[in-house]
Amino acid sequence: MALTEGFDLVLFGGTGDLALRKLIPGLYYRHRDSKDHAAGSRIIAASRQALTREQYLELITESSHKFIRDGDFDERAWQSFTQTIDYLPVDARAAAGFAALAERLRDAAGRTRVFYLSTGSDLFSAICSGLAQAGLVTPQSRVVMEKPLGRDLATSDAINESVGAIFEERQIFRIDHYLGKETVQNLLALRFGNSIFEPLWHRAAVRDVQITLAESVGVEERGEFYDRYGAMRDIVQNHLLQLLCIIAMEPPVSIAADAVRDEKLKVLRALRPFTRETVRSNVVRGQYRAGAIAGKAVPGYLEEPGIPPHSVTETFVSMRADLDNWRWARVPFYLRTGKRMQERLAEIVINFRPVPHFILPGGDSGDVNRLVIRLQPDEGIKLLVLAKVPGADMRTRPVDLDLDFAKTFRTRQWDAYERLIMDVIGGNLTLFMRRDELDAAWRWVDPIQQAWEAQGDRPKPYTAGTWGPTASSALIARDGLAWKEDV
Ligand code: BG6
Repeated sequence: MALTEGFDLVLFGGTGDLALRKLIPGLYYRHRDSKDHAAGSRIIAASRQALTREQYLELITESSHKFIRDGDFDERAWQSFTQTIDYLPVDARAAAGFAALAERLRDAAGRTRVFYLSTGSDLFSAICSGLAQAGLVTPQSRVVMEKPLGRDLATSDAINESVGAIFEERQIFRIDHYLGKETVQNLLALRFGNSIFEPLWHRAAVRDVQITLAESVGVEERGEFYDRYGAMRDIVQNHLLQLLCIIAMEPPVSIAADAVRDEKLKVLRALRPFTRETVRSNVVRGQYRAGAIAGKAVPGYLEEPGIPPHSVTETFVSMRADLDNWRWARVPFYLRTGKRMQERLAEIVINFRPVPHFILPGGDSGDVNRLVIRLQPDEGIKLLVLAKVPGADMRTRPVDLDLDFAKTFRTRQWDAYERLIMDVIGGNLTLFMRRDELDAAWRWVDPIQQAWEAQGDRPKPYTAGTWGPTASSALIARDGLAWKEDV
């Protein structure tokens, strides 16, 4: 994906965790690997901090040594990349910074201009109105908004209204980086580029779907932010629901942005709404206690920096979701996410129904067919089938038909942000959320949060380094099933 025209990218929150960890490294990779990278492209990092350009370059040079993979840091490429970077102190609530920004961008009014908002969403409206007042929003401008957008439907609506008064919907890129992951793209190829799966992608063949996004890290240095959001708003409302949409949607008529987004929206609208009672029976929330991960002792959530001593913020959620439509009626979708879990694992598991009548000898049953789409740690797709073990006896055991992306394609996997930033610059909205999708997601999540507030009890404790509270296993065991947990 080489860009032929220069662009200007203004990165608000330029000194923040996401910028240092993902965005700057992602932009570096694109600069390094695109031989004909558009000459004259500029990146202007902005934040409240009063840094000089040199100080900013020092900061990102140090962090990038940490966040760019060993062996990928090429000194010459880095030097040439940093020449494209500038820094500007901007206070989102004061006009001065925007005027200075206008001055920097004055010579390039006709270019693609990207405003990447990698700050808390409470600043999005102020930044956009600052841009508008400084005359910086051109028809070629785009704005990227990081998740979570607001804390509920009302706050998200308010942000969308004020941003929507300045940018047209075609200029607004609501980012969910899970959609940029290579395996998610591959899921689209798998579902819509092969004829063999579609006849099975249906309640008649699928028994249950499990989507897990488990992390072994805790809240790290983001305690204050995290405590205001929790796992439901940080992960379920966006990443897990987006994955569910890609799995469950009907085949779109094309890969064009609105064709895909129309189908995802229908999935979100088919999600069965929760009531106070069904929140109790179908949703588990947990909070980690001290424990050990890979043999190392780790503190509990309440001992992490920035966390109030009696916080009831959840660091774990698991739930049964139901889609009330023809394709998926009565097929449970189990969603699960947590911090400080036993392993870092993100995968989608599709369990097919067992054979109706099993005739083979041996201890196995005809209940093995499963498709595993793994996003992390090792990206790939596996299909589990029952096979005969070589030898005289008719002995069977489950085996994997295994597509390991790294081994098969032998090329560096792009980071999700690399792809998505290039999509923004290229104006491709397919992998970004439309406003109505976001509204539908909040509309489904809000009653869960409200039910928790009304219950007034604490999240269930789980020990760091496990797969969450026992109530989570009980939730799925009630349906006669179990979480797939082998990594
Ligand atoms: C972010 C969440 O969106 O996704 C973080 O805010 C989480 O809490 C991260 O750690 C996980 O992303 P990835 O790509 O590392 O799985």
